[in-house]
Amino acid sequence: MNKKAWSPHSWKSQPIIQQPVYPSEHAVEHVVHELTNMPPLVTHFEVNTLRQALAEAQQGKRFLLQGGDCAESFTDCHTDNITNKLKILLQMSLILLHGMKKPIIRVGRVAGQYAKPRSADTETRGDITLPSYRGDLINEPAFTEESRTPNPQNMLRGYNYSAATLNHIRALVNGGFADLHHPEYWQLDFAKHSSHANDYENIASNIRSTLELLSIIPGIDTSELARVNLYTSHEALLLPYEQALTRHLAEDDKWYNLSTHFPWIGMRTGQLDGAHIEYMRGIANPVAIKIGPSVSGDALLRIIEVLNPTNEPGKLTLIHRMGHHAVAEKLPPLIEQVNRSGYQVLWSCDPMHGNTQTTANQYKTRRFEDILSELKQSFTIHRQLGSHLGGVHLELTGDNVTECTGGARGLTDDDLHHAYKSPVDPRLNYEQALEIAMLIAKI
Ligand code: PEP
Ligand code: CO
Repeated sequence: MNKKAWSPHSWKSQPIIQQPVYPSEHAVEHVVHELTNMPPLVTHFEVNTLRQALAEAQQGKRFLLQGGDCAESFTDCHTDNITNKLKILLQMSLILLHGMKKPIIRVGRVAGQYAKPRSADTETRGDITLPSYRGDLINEPAFTEESRTPNPQNMLRGYNYSAATLNHIRALVNGGFADLHHPEYWQLDFAKHSSHANDYENIASNIRSTLELLSIIPGIDTSELARVNLYTSHEALLLPYEQALTRHLAEDDKWYNLSTHFPWIGMRTGQLDGAHIEYMRGIANPVAIKIGPSVSGDALLRIIEVLNPTNEPGKLTLIHRMGHHAVAEKLPPLIEQVNRSGYQVLWSCDPMHGNTQTTANQYKTRRFEDILSELKQSFTIHRQLGSHLGGVHLELTGDNVTECTGGARGLTDDDLHHAYKSPVDPRLNYEQALEIAMLIAKI
């Protein structure tokens, strides 16, 4: 199993699912060739720094906060959207830093989260059946033949939108926007009215005073301490795209996926002998895999052996997403098996994807209390088994949407229509995201 030589395209010899059917394979090859010659979006230095930080998170010295949209869209690539996403992640990380007393690794589902797995290959409306919408990297959501036909040019557009997004994030971060000395920059306009505004202000001013205090101690460089950065991540689903952005680095003779710092394998494409695991086993990036309730302990161990055969620190993150009803039953056997194996992993919890439901008025939603319940149970289970939960993976936005119910403002099913914007899964809105960070910090 998987003993053959790896190459960026060796995934093609394995069974593959969740891929579009393009009208012309030749056109796909053409685009892949073009992308192969484009500059990478991230550097292997950043990727390696992230892997080291994740290794420290495995030891409990750091905590991983990963979050963003279920699916980014090309039309949402504008200043406010990017800035608000950065702001909410920075605010949440400040709350977690303050509560957990450890550095936070910030990772956005951003600058490339454009490809989505779907439960069906096609969608039928009336007597018309068309390919499902699979994310902007592949096709368009409008229900017309032209929009839904997978277009390889979208890979080039996705590359360009990712580059524009990342460019703006880097400009903000390098320009001092993300400096811990100035958390006031991160205030969102509507946040003043939030019931959490005071708590957040207190935390921010506490951190400011701590930095001021530290700055008078000789030998401590608070400008280093206060510098904050953001890594990118996305589901590595569309393998021709991922392959095209894979680069060989002569320095360490390794292959890196330089479209993102931290790619993950989705729950639906985690088959041991499948193309996605084959692709991911050969890259030097830290990688994550989503683990759902149907994965057995034995299957998980075999996946770990393939993805991280040398047990390299920081290499592998397991993101469990069981649902609040199933987590108490499904998670413990997995943790016990991994504990016994001696493999080092970073455990993270995605409390979103196991808790999706459809309301009577046909909105796809998630209940805040279910999300919190899965998180609380997960922290406890890990603690009881001598393991620890070192990260969270959330779908959220810095905008004032109404997609998940509950939270301090008590959104109900009847409120969902006010500002339901997600084309795919429901996200925590600004206030709910802030609230969940405050609650995590207290667990
Ligand atoms: C997602 O993260 O948007 C997703 C599809 O998750 P999962 O693979 O866990 O279902
Ligand atoms: Co999702």
